[in-house]
Amino acid sequence: MGIYSQHIFPRLMESGLKGAVHRRYRRRTLERANGEVLEIGFGTGLNLECYPESVRRVTGLDPAAVLERRVRARIAEVPFPVERITGDAAERLPFPDEHFDTVASTWTLCSIERLRSALVEMRRVLKPSGELLFLEHGRNEGRWVARLQDAVNPIQNRVACGCNVNRRIDDEIEGAGFRISELDRFIMPGVPRALGSVYLGAARRADSRALGGPPPVRD
Ligand SMILES: C[S@@+](CC[C@H](N)C(=O)[O-])C[C@H]1O[C@@H](n2cnc3c(N)ncnc32)[C@H](O)[C@@H]1O
Repeated sequence: MGIYSQHIFPRLMESGLKGAVHRRYRRRTLERANGEVLEIGFGTGLNLECYPESVRRVTGLDPAAVLERRVRARIAEVPFPVERITGDAAERLPFPDEHFDTVASTWTLCSIERLRSALVEMRRVLKPSGELLFLEHGRNEGRWVARLQDAVNPIQNRVACGCNVNRRIDDEIEGAGFRISELDRFIMPGVPRALGSVYLGAARRADSRALGGPPPVRD
């Protein structure tokens, strides 16, 4: 990791994602989290304070460990144990099938390079009764904003360490074998549409018959 991705970008990311408005949406997304939670793209632990009492443990997965002092302080403040794992969500996750009650992802599906593989893994480790809770930014429904997103995506990808602004998050989730049960689409207050087109919702595993074929495979 270079100086930019290890020290500069994580600070920019934190200051952009830790405000009161973001916290409000994090809380709304995570209010149904319970039991054993796998958080994909744990980052600097900004979600920890937003989990409800029904959470028994959080396992945070991220390929990067940054701003360690802040992360440790956040972990020390929550009443449940937090286990951190360094790794890529698109690789086989070190957990058995149907292990977690909740899989959570906030502002992360934009950045995972092999997103289909990662979502298929999330589905594998989620209990059939469990939920994938997500709060993501992605492709805008309007043609012109979407065109702008396509145009700026290569630059965003560069300056924001792999972030994509133009992914159809709902299609990506359903394409990996989930059925979305709740979805709210809106523009993040104070954020330009190209960056702030939000997908907030919940999904459950779809059974293969409902999908009309076998479960999706990794890419
Ligand atoms: C914009 S940050 C969001 C961090 C955190 N989820 C939050 O809401 O504050 C995106 C996170 O995704 C992580 N990430 C990128 N690629 C990943 C991958 N392949 N698997 C898991 N996490 C990944 C990054 O390291 C980073 O921490």
